[in-house]
Amino acid sequence: DKGGYRHFMLKEIFEQPAVVKNTLQGRLGSDHILEQSFGNGASDILDKVQSVQIVACGTSYHAGMVAKYWIEGIAGIPCRVEVASEFRYRKFVVSPGTLLVTISQSGETADTLAALRLAKELDYCATLTVCNVAQSSLVRESDLALMTEAGPEIGVASTKAFTTQLTALLILTVALGRRYAIDKVKEAAIVSALHSLPGTLATALELDDEICGIAETFADKHHALFLGRGIQWPIAMEGALKLKEISYIHAESYPAGELKHGPLALVDDDMPVVAVAPNDELLEKLKSNLEEVQARGGQLYVFADKQAGFKNESGLTVIPVPHSEEIVAPILYTLPLQLLSYHVAVFKGTDVDQPRNLAKSVTVE
Ligand code: F6R
Repeated sequence: DKGGYRHFMLKEIFEQPAVVKNTLQGRLGSDHILEQSFGNGASDILDKVQSVQIVACGTSYHAGMVAKYWIEGIAGIPCRVEVASEFRYRKFVVSPGTLLVTISQSGETADTLAALRLAKELDYCATLTVCNVAQSSLVRESDLALMTEAGPEIGVASTKAFTTQLTALLILTVALGRRYAIDKVKEAAIVSALHSLPGTLATALELDDEICGIAETFADKHHALFLGRGIQWPIAMEGALKLKEISYIHAESYPAGELKHGPLALVDDDMPVVAVAPNDELLEKLKSNLEEVQARGGQLYVFADKQAGFKNESGLTVIPVPHSEEIVAPILYTLPLQLLSYHVAVFKGTDVDQPRNLAKSVTVE
């Protein structure tokens, strides 16, 4: 049932405030997180963790990339991330006290499951899955499970699974980090940002009409570039993946500082360039990267905090994103990028919910 929406994907995009709220349910106190909710013996297991190895595929891998910025940058714990299909086939070194974290909507992705089974033969201190399906193999076979409460995701292109994964991973960051770099004051600040997250996401969805208005200009393009910096780089990667999957437009993402090391050669007036520009310490750096794009005639679409000081001008369209706490910005900025790819696909007339060549659950290698 599409609940009155034209596609499951749009319905699932609009469900995000509610399902993020469900994912927070039972995991937050007023000013602290409730780590017992991760499963039996969670505290004893978390006590042993000295580093984290994340393994996942596709959109779930992008969630892992965001988590790396949180786990290293906020919790103060070493964290590595790798796509499952690479991880399982290479030799690697396991340092003592490493927690193996898998991330998966379905809990059945063949490569991710194989990576978990491989890890259980090795010296990881424990395994934890961030997963959306309670009866899945990943949940059954992991020591701890942090369930995302996205509900069934029907659209092949993952939307609400991703934002609930990010929500769960931020909770995990706090659980790990309270043993390291996160003190009570910092924990309370993150918990407060999480409490207001569903409301913040709802305000981002109000951009729908505005985004629909710019999507038409993408429909006849063959390529697009997505730029971000820092923790927004994986969000740009996810934005590019969504556009590729459902509109079949070739899209690439780069950390904006890499532009002049190659991709700038691609930029001309037929190349839309989408940038995710939150109001953080990298904003000024990003601005100078974007000026390089403008100077080459590239058409810029900047998703920016109202306070970031971008103004519409020739070649530059600003989509103002509501202000949020910096820590939840990656979750917030995901929504307008999902809406952009959705509306571009609708203009192109592709099969939004069932893109060609793709399956919802990849249970074969
Ligand atoms: C993209 C998408 C895929 C999945 C990937 C992993 O929209 O849906 O990239 O994210 O196949 O699937 P799960 O999360 O079920 O392991």
